[in-house]
Amino acid sequence: MSRVAELIERKRDGGELTASEIDELILADVPDYQLAAFCMAVFFRGLSSEETFALTDAMVRSGETLDLGAALGRRVVDKHSTGGVGDKISLALGPVVAACGVPFGKMSGRGLGHTGGTLDKLEAIPGFRVELTTDAFVAQVREIGLAIVGQTADLVPADKKLYALRDVTATVDQVSLIAASIMSKKIAAGANAIVLDVKVGDGAFMKTLEDAQVLANTMIALGERAGRKVVCEITDMDQPLGRAVGNALEVREVLQTLRGEGPPDVAELVLGAAAHLLALSDLGLDRDEGRRRAEGAIADGSAYAAYERWIRAQGGDPDEAALPKASFVREVFAPRGGYVRRLAALPIGNAALDLGAGRREKDDPIDHAVGIVCVKKRGDEVGGGEALAEIHARDETSADALAEAVVAAYEIVDAPPPAHPLVLDVIGA
Ligand code: URA
Repeated sequence: MSRVAELIERKRDGGELTASEIDELILADVPDYQLAAFCMAVFFRGLSSEETFALTDAMVRSGETLDLGAALGRRVVDKHSTGGVGDKISLALGPVVAACGVPFGKMSGRGLGHTGGTLDKLEAIPGFRVELTTDAFVAQVREIGLAIVGQTADLVPADKKLYALRDVTATVDQVSLIAASIMSKKIAAGANAIVLDVKVGDGAFMKTLEDAQVLANTMIALGERAGRKVVCEITDMDQPLGRAVGNALEVREVLQTLRGEGPPDVAELVLGAAAHLLALSDLGLDRDEGRRRAEGAIADGSAYAAYERWIRAQGGDPDEAALPKASFVREVFAPRGGYVRRLAALPIGNAALDLGAGRREKDDPIDHAVGIVCVKKRGDEVGGGEALAEIHARDETSADALAEAVVAAYEIVDAPPPAHPLVLDVIGA
């Protein structure tokens, strides 16, 4: 039996691998079929905390790393979400944090499946370039205080390979593999302090609070071992975040948020994450003062101005009127009056995907204009026949095809439902 097969067999049978054995799997040129088998063995057997750290560390060493903090002589902050529906927080958070004088440098990913990706949302902005060289990325964070770019090919190449294999072998949703994937990229990209938003609910990888807490604790431990300060917020993904789902629609909602007119859940997550990031920065503030400054940056327009500077620096047109618009908008209506008890995130994410807002396969093209606006959300009162949502589509046929699915995502009951917390837990603060 080959050496790699022996290592897979050990994991398959519940044994433990050493750090140098994990290096052999991740850093050598192991064929895809063996790496896929290894992922499946990990899926069933899990990894110990030592193995998870060794995997993360090997993944970091698979490519280039960046020391952004040292390059700028400042403590640099970053934020990452485990992914959800309507999650546009980073696009508003970056300008808020930069307006408060803290450098924000982030490498983001694209959406896959029903979850959206920050890069796709940014590419809804005409002219915006997500690909910058590492030098240009560092220079922009130095000069503008803010850059969000695609991950360069040289950063954690092992994750690109592993993630692509996991995606087609039903091995994405395993805590150690998710934690190593996310934290290897955060560590390699060089921020000193990271706020992680672990989503929980039907639209997220983690379906229960307990699983989300395990993932959060795993990522905090990985960050701390790499000398990074990490705070995890566990937040609700049982309904879409904000009202807009779909790239240009979400950018519009970001602009509303930066003007202080955004949906309350988006505003709250932006201010909460900004408070954590400012408290972790080199400004020497506590969280309350961080939140006050973040609120001030929205109120005095400096966060909006930071957004405009940032978008222009990456070649984009920050004018809201420049964003693409779908040619057809269809409303869907409540079949009865009452209160929205449930607005399921997954079917709304899938409907947006079917409209063309996301991609089922890695290289599918995206229509940046299309998506869903959830006019009513959980807890809202609705009259029979009142609009629940808008479908922004390429044409009438594609909007009609999804109308039923969008209405079915809503559950309407007679009495107001109990309040559902937006932030379920904060770990590592
Ligand atoms: N996001 C990542 O970057 N990796 C995962 O494995 C899951 C979500």
